[in-house]
Formats: sequence, C-alpha cells, structure tokens
Amino acid sequence: MRHLLNPLDFSVEEIQNLLDLAADIEHDLPGYAHVCDGKKIATLFYEPSTRTRLSFEAAMLNLGGSVLGFSSAASSSAAKGESVSDTIRMISCYADICAMRHPKEGAPLVASLHSSIPVINAGDGGHQHPTQTLTDLMTIRSLLGRLDNMTVGLCGDLKFGRTVHSLINALVRYPNVKFVLISPPELRVPEYIREDVLKANNIPFQEVGNLDEAMPQLDILYMTRVQRERFFNEEDYIRLKDCYILDKAKMKLAKEHMFVLHPLPRVNEISVEVDNDPRAAYFRQVQYGVYVRMALIMTLLEVKKPC
Ligand code: CP
Repeated sequence: MRHLLNPLDFSVEEIQNLLDLAADIEHDLPGYAHVCDGKKIATLFYEPSTRTRLSFEAAMLNLGGSVLGFSSAASSSAAKGESVSDTIRMISCYADICAMRHPKEGAPLVASLHSSIPVINAGDGGHQHPTQTLTDLMTIRSLLGRLDNMTVGLCGDLKFGRTVHSLINALVRYPNVKFVLISPPELRVPEYIREDVLKANNIPFQEVGNLDEAMPQLDILYMTRVQRERFFNEEDYIRLKDCYILDKAKMKLAKEHMFVLHPLPRVNEISVEVDNDPRAAYFRQVQYGVYVRMALIMTLLEVKKPC
C-alpha cells in the first residue's frame, strides 16, 4: 500500500505515468466512469478548502465511487479531542482511500503510520501540498509541452505558501529549470528550501523583490496569496498583503507565451482584468486538478481502465 505525503514520494517516471493517465482521462472521461465502482474516498478536512476537497470528491464520483467525510475539525470528533491516529483507524473501517488536510505539519504522515488505507496529503500547515503540485505539473506540461528547460517565477508569500515548497521540490528534478523567487524579505522561501533543495541540487535561482523586472524572463509566473491564517501578527499581514498585484500593465512586460498559474484562492494578487488574458491559466489549472486526482486515486488503489 502506498501513500502520497510529499511530491517526492513518486519518482519522475511515476509522475510521467500519472500525468499520462490524467491526460488520457481528460480525453476519454466516459471510459473511466466505472473504474472505482463500489470504492469510497473519505475527505478529512481539518482546515477550510474549496478546490482540493471538492475536486477529490468530483474525482471519485467521476470514477463511479462514492464520498464521505467532514469539512472542518469543528464538525468532527477532533472537537472532542480525538487524535489523528485514532481517527484514521476509524476511517480505515469506512473507506478505501482518504485525503487529509490539517493545519499541523506532518499530520497526514502520522495518519499514514496508523492507516490500513492509502493516505493522501491534501495540505499540511505551511509544509507541503503534493496534489496541488501534480495539478501544477499537469498544467505546465499541457501548456508548454514540457517540464524542463524553463524559467519559473514564484511570487508572493514564499515563506508560508506550501504549494510553492512542493512545486520547487518537484521541479528541481527536471533538467534546466531556473527559478526567480519574487517576494518581500519577510516572505522569502524557508532556509531548508534554499539550502537543502535549491543549493544542494545546484539549481540556478535568484531572490528578488521587483516583479516588473522579473517578468520578461519568465516562462511561467506562479502567483500566490499572502497566507493570512499563518501570520502571528495581523499588522504584518496588513502591511504585506498587497505587496504584489498582477495587472494588465505588468502583463505587458511578459513574454507572449508566458503563462500565469495560481493555486487559488485569489485575494488581491491578480487583478480580475487579467482573467481574460489568454495567458491567464489559473482556471484551466482547476480543471486539470480533477483529472490528476482521478489518476492519483486510480494509481493508489491500483485500478485500471478496462481494455
Ligand atoms: N488550491 C487549494 O488548495 O485550494 P483550496 O484551499 O480551496 O483547497
């Protein structure tokens, strides 16, 4: 039995197979309508979510399976003090696979150690968000036709943004990927990403504060929200929340074939006037998230499309 806790739990070859499966699903959705008949996914969300929880549920429903779960800690027995390890023992009796989001880093890992069903990390604190990364990889591969030879700009809250940490971890395995890390000094990537991931793998990267200056060199611009819920101090959040706002004027500085991604939700960091730019790919990214989660469920449950 396998879990997905970190993007590196899958090799580059396994990710390629998973993205190929997701691409086949995209082009033949009806062909997959019954591959998970009788299977159930439990979505255990101790933190708010729109996309991740509902896309997991849509994915399992598209595969013919069913869903159960909770959408907040307050509506589960966590509110009475039940531990993650006890909860997963119960869920293992009710479902075939589960997706867990938790504010504490490492909670899905703890769950996996006590689980008899595959556990998927659907976001743990400011740590990792591997299924968003699979979504991002599928989006980039679909838009650019490759996952190598590109310059990726990551902009905004690079300190608390778990999607950024997971994406960097995943992309350093592809040849000739360069990073431009655009943030205010207070929201730079954590030291372990800079030292243990980027420098340790000899990956070219720059840390800059100016989005306008970075724009012309980018193939992908990955915008992120300032993560209010992870700040200790509201004043700091208010000071930093609008540090970058992508608008039409900034888009004029970009390559004709640069694409803008965002894990969403968006607050102010992308002006709605950008939404109709053909390079704005963040809503297409949401659709890819369903296909990739369908492929992930099939992979972890070891089910195949009928011949
Ligand atoms: N991208 C993402 O994780 O969105 P949600 O918080 O709505 O799940």
